[in-house]
Amino acid sequence: MISSKLPDVGTTIFTTMSQLAAETGALNLSQGFPDFDGPDALREAVGRHVMSGHNQYAPMTGLPQLREQIAGKVARLYGRRVDAATEVTVTPGATQAIFCAIQAVVRPGDEVIVFDPCYDSYDPAVRLAGGACIHLPLALPDFAIDWQRLADSIGPRTRMIVLNTPHNPSGALIGTEDLDRLAALVRGRDLYLLSDEVYEHLVFDGREHASVLRHEELYQRAFVVSSFGKTYHVTGWKTGYVVAPAPLTAELRKIHQYVSFTGVTPLQWALADYMLAHPEHVQELPAFYQAKRDLFCDLLAGSRFAFTRAAGTYFQLADYSAIRPELDDVTMAEWLTREHGVAAIPISVFYQQPPEGLRLVRFCFAKREETLREAAQRLCAI
Ligand SMILES: Cc1ncc(COP(=O)(O)O)c(C=O)c1O
Repeated sequence: MISSKLPDVGTTIFTTMSQLAAETGALNLSQGFPDFDGPDALREAVGRHVMSGHNQYAPMTGLPQLREQIAGKVARLYGRRVDAATEVTVTPGATQAIFCAIQAVVRPGDEVIVFDPCYDSYDPAVRLAGGACIHLPLALPDFAIDWQRLADSIGPRTRMIVLNTPHNPSGALIGTEDLDRLAALVRGRDLYLLSDEVYEHLVFDGREHASVLRHEELYQRAFVVSSFGKTYHVTGWKTGYVVAPAPLTAELRKIHQYVSFTGVTPLQWALADYMLAHPEHVQELPAFYQAKRDLFCDLLAGSRFAFTRAAGTYFQLADYSAIRPELDDVTMAEWLTREHGVAAIPISVFYQQPPEGLRLVRFCFAKREETLREAAQRLCAI
C-alpha cells in the first residue's frame, strides 16, 4: 500500500458541489467561475496566435510582452516600478504560483501562518514542503485579523504569513492600516509574505484594493500573486503571475521551471495583446461585478437569508439561521442543491477548526443576470 503524503486530502468541496449541481440540474452558484465568456477580442486573439505559429515553448519566465504589460499595470495601479525581467513571472494559474512561492522558502520544520477560513491549496503546499500551517481564525462577524493572536503566534519557526485580500470566501478586505500593522509585527524577522490578490480588481463601493505592491516595506519580503482567469473571465485558461523582488523571484523560478517550466504560449500572446489594447478592462471590473452583487443582494433581500454585502470578490456569504438552523452547513448546501436547485459552498470546509454553530454558505455571483434572477427566485421561495 502506498503511504500517502496527504492522507487526509480527498476530493475538494468545489468538485463535489459542482458534480452534485450537474447531477441534480441545480443552478451552480458553488464553484467560483463565471457562466459567461471573456471578451471576444481576447478569445479571438488566441485563435489568431495559434494559427500564426505561436505554439512552441514560451520563455520560462513568461512571454516578455506579457511581463511588460504586467509591469505597466503594476506601475499604473499600484505606483510601483517593477523590473519585468527580474520581478515578474507568468505561471499556469495562481495555484501554481502559490505552490512555487511556498516551495521556494518553506523548509522542513517551518511554520506558515494562514487565516481561516482560507483557500484550500495553501495547507497541502506547505505540508509538501515539510512545514506546518498555523491556522488563525479571522474574527467574526467581519472576518478581521485578530492582531493579538497573530502577534502571539509569530515565533522563530514562522517562515511565512499568507494574506488573501479581497478574501475568499468572505469577501472581506484588508486596509492599508492593516498592512502597516503587519509590517510592524514582522519587522526584523526572517519571514516572507505570500499575498494572494487574485480578486484584486473585484473591490466595491469605491474602496481601494490595499495591494502589498503599494507597500514599500512589505513588498521587500513578498510574493504577490494574481490570476488572469479571474480578471478576464477565463478561469479555464489557468494563467496567472507572481510579482516579487528579484532575489525572491530567482528562487521562485527555480521551482517553477521544474513544476511546469512555462505557461501556455498562445494564451500569453493573447493576454499581452488584450492588455495593451484594453487597459480600461481592469478599471471597469469593479462596476461590472458590483452591479451583479447588487442585483443578487437586492433580490435576496426578499428571502430569509441574512447577509452583509460583500466588499470584494465575486462571492456573497449568506446566513441561513432563520431557515434551517438545525442543519450544519455541509448538509445545508446539499439540501439547497437537491431540494431547491441552487448549489452553494459550505464555509466550514475552509477551516481547520470551524467555529461552533457556523450557519453560513457562499454563493458565487459571477453569473449572467438570468441565472442570478432564477437563483434568487428559488432562494426566496424557501
Ligand atoms: C483565493 C484564491 N487563490 C487562488 C485561486 C486560484 O486561481 P487560479 O485559477 O488562477 O489558479 C483561487 C481560485 O478560486 C482563489 O479563490
